[in-house]
Amino acid sequence: DAARSFDTEVGAGGELHQIADDGGDVLTTQQGVRVADDQNSLKVGDRGPTLLEDFHFREKIFHFDHERIPERVVHARGFGVHGTFTLTESLEDHTVAKMLTEVGEQTQMFVRFSTVAGNKGSPDLARDVRGFAAKFYTKEGNWDIVGNNIPVFFIQDAIKFPDMVHAAKQEPDRGFPQAQTAHDNFWDFISLTPESMHMIMWIMSDRTIPRSFRTIEGFGVHTFRLINAEGKGTYVKFHFKPRQGLQSVMWNEAVKINGADPDFHRRDLWDAIDQDTPPEWDLGVQLFDDEFADNFEFDVLDATKLIPEEQIPVRIIGSFVLDARVENFFAETEQVAFCTQNVVPGIGFTNDPLLQGRNFSYLDTQLKRLGSPNFTHIPINQPRGCPVMNFQQDGHMAMRNPKGRVNYEPNSWAGSGPNPRESPTTGYRHFPAEESGRKAQVRSASFADHYSQARQFFISQAPIEQKHIGDALVFELSKVERVDIRQKIVGHLRNIDETLAKVVAGGLGLKELPPKEKAAVEPRTDLPA
Ligand code: HEM
Repeated sequence: DAARSFDTEVGAGGELHQIADDGGDVLTTQQGVRVADDQNSLKVGDRGPTLLEDFHFREKIFHFDHERIPERVVHARGFGVHGTFTLTESLEDHTVAKMLTEVGEQTQMFVRFSTVAGNKGSPDLARDVRGFAAKFYTKEGNWDIVGNNIPVFFIQDAIKFPDMVHAAKQEPDRGFPQAQTAHDNFWDFISLTPESMHMIMWIMSDRTIPRSFRTIEGFGVHTFRLINAEGKGTYVKFHFKPRQGLQSVMWNEAVKINGADPDFHRRDLWDAIDQDTPPEWDLGVQLFDDEFADNFEFDVLDATKLIPEEQIPVRIIGSFVLDARVENFFAETEQVAFCTQNVVPGIGFTNDPLLQGRNFSYLDTQLKRLGSPNFTHIPINQPRGCPVMNFQQDGHMAMRNPKGRVNYEPNSWAGSGPNPRESPTTGYRHFPAEESGRKAQVRSASFADHYSQARQFFISQAPIEQKHIGDALVFELSKVERVDIRQKIVGHLRNIDETLAKVVAGGLGLKELPPKEKAAVEPRTDLPA
């Protein structure tokens, strides 16, 4: 940006005044009143007390005092950019969602990359999952894929999420450590939560120390549902595949970079766009039906499992480019509100118990974080491709109230302002899934195999990648003070891979290999890498 020249004056106390030139912008209060002096508060005498009467001073300080809003309860540190999605292959056999059926259609989007456990000021290269949340401003409403760069998750049921996050964040008595992995609480929770072992393998891999946001994948994680014009459902998993390829740093590089440039990832993305080399991703889908779901070795509703691409290949249906930086970090990156329940006609949910909980959580937390049910009126959250019309009104900072007399429906008024009606043919219809069963707090037995896919992931890795996983486990567990927690983790590793368990036990100086942790289902050894 070019520098702007101003006339300047030096005041009696030596302070510098920048005086607006004739055509230039003039400083005003929030009420639009021009400001004569922004360097000195109103006083009695040259050295006297400041007066309450100084409305400009009071307004300025009052506003500053209220600049902060709560940071996100998770994924607090993030970086957002704008982009465009282009569809290259129609999914019209499977969905009525126009964004996924009209080939060549371009849809504006906003993506926020994030780390999960650190607070807003934490370093970019912590070993952590990266959030990859995408908002598509489709012409049928906003559709969000609130994903991560790992295809599976720690837990199977949303009721465990507060515990998992409490254990991963700073310990409450001391306010440290920030790193998700390097502490007793986190590993204590993991050691008692065998369902997390698959995710742990991914977290200890190089995926959690990416070279750049530009070199990570994105996954919708859950099984979602597409719904076509006949009302038929198809299961779907969403994938973002970086055209830049996958790239990570080494752990010792990550540690150094965090010290030298904690903004490494956001600077990298800013520079890439600045230098006109914007990153691109392909959008892919894995599609499958009930027959596949019923015969698959694992439950497709279990977010700790993935569907191997060898079994259901990822079909590329379009791509997106992220080529525009935000103009205002707070207004856009901070105030953007993603939500898994933001779907459009033709896209629906499944009974994944983690997804069901998320559908409640995002809206709820955003009311607290953004302070008003009207956070959808903030420009970054407003639909762009279609009108918004309803009879919701008032609340803090309402920008978009119903106009005219009518604020309810049904009504029989005409012509007194926008008077929207339901649309049975084009409106959102939930998938009419057949449900039955007794009411109970249960976990399906089909969720019980916690080790087979962890093993599948581990043995699919190249030797050097396997070494990095072992090194990472030794490094992180060596920060755990309680030896019994270290032992328990090794006991879980024995259900995944004996050699890995031995490497980690050796690295931790354990004299004996701890007993295997009990498994509800013996891990399978017949699955391909
Ligand atoms: C925020 C992903 C599970 C609650 C986020 C964000 C991402 C994400 C990417 C950051 C959004 C942004 O950039 O603004 C995921 C994935 C999950 C998962 C992929 C599992 C597959 C959960 C669960 C819950 C939850 C189970 C709660 C039951 C939240 C909350 C926020 C958040 C409260 C903060 C939202 C805000 O303040 O705007 N999640 N999450 N997440 N997530 Fe999740």
